Amino acid sequence: MKSTTWVILLLAIALVGVGSAYVYEKVSDSTDIHETQEQKEALALNVIMTRTSVRDFLDKEIPDSLLTKILRAGMAAPSAYNRQPWEFIVVNAPVCKRRISELRPGTTPVAKCQAAIVVCGNMDKVTPGENSEAGNWTLDCAAATENMLLAANALGIGGVWCGLYTDEKRIDGVSDVLELPDNLVPFSVVALGYEATPAMPKEKWDPERVYLNTYDTPFYPNFRD
Ligand SMILES: Cc1cc2nc3c(=O)[nH]c(=O)nc-3n(C[C@H](O)[C@H](O)[C@H](O)COP(=O)(O)O)c2cc1C
Repeated sequence: MKSTTWVILLLAIALVGVGSAYVYEKVSDSTDIHETQEQKEALALNVIMTRTSVRDFLDKEIPDSLLTKILRAGMAAPSAYNRQPWEFIVVNAPVCKRRISELRPGTTPVAKCQAAIVVCGNMDKVTPGENSEAGNWTLDCAAATENMLLAANALGIGGVWCGLYTDEKRIDGVSDVLELPDNLVPFSVVALGYEATPAMPKEKWDPERVYLNTYDTPFYPNFRD
């Protein structure tokens, strides 16, 4: 082979190496790609099954790097037509947290949380034909909310979903505190912090709620035996 061919070949190999390293960096920024299928399964299911609402928090700051992981998980949620009609407001100012918590009772946990993430629907980004009364955007925001709660649990951070939508008093109250423009509708608040009192996950599994093909056929017919 000619020396120029060798040089081109070496350059190509170097380029592939740099490219792969870049892609790896990008992916591993938000996920750990080292695990095997079994580890992935165990980790994911554990995070889902141990999540529980935490409403009492320690006075211990959440590093921004962890908040970013939680926000990334929120934005990784599925959304109808992939419209991602959401905006996220991180609230850590004591005065804002206090004012949101005063829209009680539902938002009471916000008072003691370290950071609250308010998930808002952006009406400029919703599926055409939708309005604030009905539409996929609420489902999309719900998916983002749950993703963030799961990510928080994975990171050892407790959290609770405080519902805003469709309570007009809470929606108006939060819009006022956060000075939201008219096109943003606050959907939920995820109150986050390190848990002060250990909260146990609730047992919810109920095989009798599962059916096969038609509602009159149990999926687990011998469950009672
Ligand atoms: C749509 C929705 C709204 C909720 N709103 C509130 C709320 O305003 N305040 C609150 O403390 N918890 C709220 N929660 C949390 C529920 O109370 C909690 O998920 C439920 O009791 C089950 O407990 P677990 O999360 O520990 O499994 C809400 C949950 C959902 C899904």
